[in-house]
Amino acid sequence: MCGIFGYCGGKKASEILIEGLKRLEYRGYDSSGICVGNGSKFSVYKRVGKIKVLADTLPEKPFGHNGIAHTRWATHGGVTEANAHPHTDCNEKIAIVHNGIIENYQQLKDKLLVKGHKFKSETDSEVIAHLIEEVFNGDLTKAVKQVLPMLKGTYGLIAMHVDCPDVLVGARNGSPLILGIGNNEMFLASDVNAMVAYTKQVVYLNDKEIVTVTPDGFTTSDVQDNAIHKDITMVETDGESFDKQGYNHFMMKEIAEQTEAIKRGMVGRLNVDEATGHLGGLNMDNAQLLDVERIVLVAAGTSYYAGMTASYLIENLVRIPARVELASELRYKNIIVEKNTLYFVISQSGETADTLFALRELQRKGAHVLGICNAVGSTIARETDGGVYIHSGPEIAVASTKAFTSQLTALYIFTLLMARIRHLSFEQGKEFINAFNELPALIEEILSADDKIEQIADKYYKSQSFMFLGRGINYPVAMEGALKLKEISYIHAEGFGAGELKHGPIALINEQTPSFFLVPDDALRDKNISNMKEVKARGGKIIAVCTNGDDEVKEIADDVIEVPKIMPCFYPFLLVVPLQLFAYHCAVKLGRDVDQPRNLAKSVTVE
Ligand code: M6R
Repeated sequence: MCGIFGYCGGKKASEILIEGLKRLEYRGYDSSGICVGNGSKFSVYKRVGKIKVLADTLPEKPFGHNGIAHTRWATHGGVTEANAHPHTDCNEKIAIVHNGIIENYQQLKDKLLVKGHKFKSETDSEVIAHLIEEVFNGDLTKAVKQVLPMLKGTYGLIAMHVDCPDVLVGARNGSPLILGIGNNEMFLASDVNAMVAYTKQVVYLNDKEIVTVTPDGFTTSDVQDNAIHKDITMVETDGESFDKQGYNHFMMKEIAEQTEAIKRGMVGRLNVDEATGHLGGLNMDNAQLLDVERIVLVAAGTSYYAGMTASYLIENLVRIPARVELASELRYKNIIVEKNTLYFVISQSGETADTLFALRELQRKGAHVLGICNAVGSTIARETDGGVYIHSGPEIAVASTKAFTSQLTALYIFTLLMARIRHLSFEQGKEFINAFNELPALIEEILSADDKIEQIADKYYKSQSFMFLGRGINYPVAMEGALKLKEISYIHAEGFGAGELKHGPIALINEQTPSFFLVPDDALRDKNISNMKEVKARGGKIIAVCTNGDDEVKEIADDVIEVPKIMPCFYPFLLVVPLQLFAYHCAVKLGRDVDQPRNLAKSVTVE
């Protein structure tokens, strides 16, 4: 989704801004732009399409040491140069970049039009530049502080003014903004990845905070002018991970990295001596965990499916009710927060607006909410009452892969801990840990069968529609498989509980609609086989993902992908990998933009 970046220092700003934008590319965007201070005027460049197009249009000569930049993902107004940020006021003395949505922009714009302001775009964001113009009286921070209370909605924004050279003013409310502290240079960005190449010292701004930045310092305050003390944090993100490291796409690299990511997520968290899990970040002792009577997992997209998978495991092993909620729904449903209930918000990016606002709504109602996040220092990670980092490393491809299995890793360890506090015996805990430890090698085995999966993709990639069917703990995996395929190949795909087939979806079966069946050797295998036969009887093609050597499944299915045998509750980790690979190969064969599929953003920071 939109990314913002600002620079203020002694170097050639345009080069640093373009580099920063490239590091925001993975979030998804449709146009971009920069504004650089250039003596008594601004130089603004905007382009539709890739950052490279923008970079190629910039003049060679240096033209300024401070500036702001933006990658836009259209919300208000089409994908045009005029609608791309930065936006300027009537006299082109003020420039702003903005993430988020100004909900009352039309009312504000109407008033500004009456006052004679001339607008150049259809965006909601442009009103901010004109509002600053209205109130500016030589002090940019003061002007921004006067404008912020007029805005209804969400923002992460940076403003600059030609009359205030070497000053950037940033503010946040519901959209992330981070300050980077360099050597006589400062950075502002919506994503720490934009600045890690230049500095590892950062300050995470909270909502309603305003920062004024010059090359050699910064001040933070609120709209009432109260100074706010901020701690400086060292980030550990590794800039090199932005390399494809020989892979054609980040997605394939991230699928392959799953074995290492799972191992990282397990380190120090499986206590073999006591056959239990250890998660220090929960900030809850065993007595408090024993008081938990119910678990609610809240998330969006792939993270939701990870939560749904965990809900099956928790009910089965911990023997307490567990349910999953879509963050986008929870936010508006006036949820009943129950006592003795532990809430989890799950988010790879830690910035998903729906999940963040669901978290705040839960906290407002008194819930204790833990986070499961990948992005260290992200807003959700900071605002939750405790939680677990999944440590899967930066996930760049829009389609989430390694974050899913890493989220499962954290949730499975949590389940082990909770189950061992209750009914799971020492021996059962040990068996669970043994199976856990087998996972990386087994996933490696599946990855080595990639050629076969590619051949199957070659046979089916021209299909118009797919069904994904699974039962029990593998039902969410079926839905995740369908999500992967649709988002990167644009092929229509739906995931269903296989038991639902006869309740409607079977009407879709014909020779042109292949079905993926997840049919490992678990307690529901025979039920799945019956469903496969029903599909077969209606001429449907079947691709089955089953356990090694399952001859009965092989006989019914048209194509088979085998996964190694494991303790049944761990099959989601194994079954999802072929589905990721299948989606990847279909997308490549169809010539899709695998890492940045159309219309999608990596981090959905607006609702
Ligand atoms: O960063 P989050 O985990 O909160 O993101 C949630 C969804 O937006 C995300 O999983 C999305 O569905 C992915 N594109 C799936 O591949």
